Amino acid sequence: MENLKKQVGIKAAEFVKDGMIVGLGTGSTAAFFVEELGRRIHDEGLNIIGVTTSSVTSEQASKLGIPLKSIDEVDFVDLTVDGADEIDSKLNGIKGGGAALLMEKIVATYSHDYIWIVDESKLSENLGSFKVPVEVIPYGAEQIFRKFTTAGYAPTWREDDKGNKLITDMHHYLIDLHISEIKHPEQLAQELDLTVGVVEHGLFNNMVKKVIVADHDGVKIIE
Ligand code: 5RP
Repeated sequence: MENLKKQVGIKAAEFVKDGMIVGLGTGSTAAFFVEELGRRIHDEGLNIIGVTTSSVTSEQASKLGIPLKSIDEVDFVDLTVDGADEIDSKLNGIKGGGAALLMEKIVATYSHDYIWIVDESKLSENLGSFKVPVEVIPYGAEQIFRKFTTAGYAPTWREDDKGNKLITDMHHYLIDLHISEIKHPEQLAQELDLTVGVVEHGLFNNMVKKVIVADHDGVKIIE
């Protein structure tokens, strides 16, 4: 599995050209992409600016010597490459397994080009085998949790390794929804968008045009 993730990370780095502003995703797959950019900067003198999507990626990129700017310091991002937790046949996706969905969605929104890199296990006909993370403001979060319970979404709190509610990079909580089959992701996204106290959710509908997938036969591109 690590090898498949590495293959897509390296493949995606081929789309990065000199002078680009590059969105750097979060997670174990995106980390291989970031690593490859670090290698190209070091070995080939690649000249780019990175815009990171989490504190974890900022730390990795800084260690690799990738020059960074925040999303507010650039006019736009040329290309963002990120992982995903689940992708349906229409290229809608669920993200946020690594708790970075808010920054990931903001950076993706201001990117001219956006690519997901995954191993084949992330592809499914309909979304729902992965939980839908919902980032909420702490004030009133218990009310939102109850609302999700009543709606039948079987919510759980995202916890840190000490069993406390996880605090995201942007100082919010995460509630994970366990919905077994999401046939209409747009409807669910709209409902979550309209819920007061919800900052953002992990449904990335209609945002990506290109997915680089690796399986044991090699790497392919779905568009
Ligand atoms: C982080 C994400 C990640 O991109 C997603 O969880 C995939 O991670 P991995 O490549 O480790 O499976 O959305 O918030």
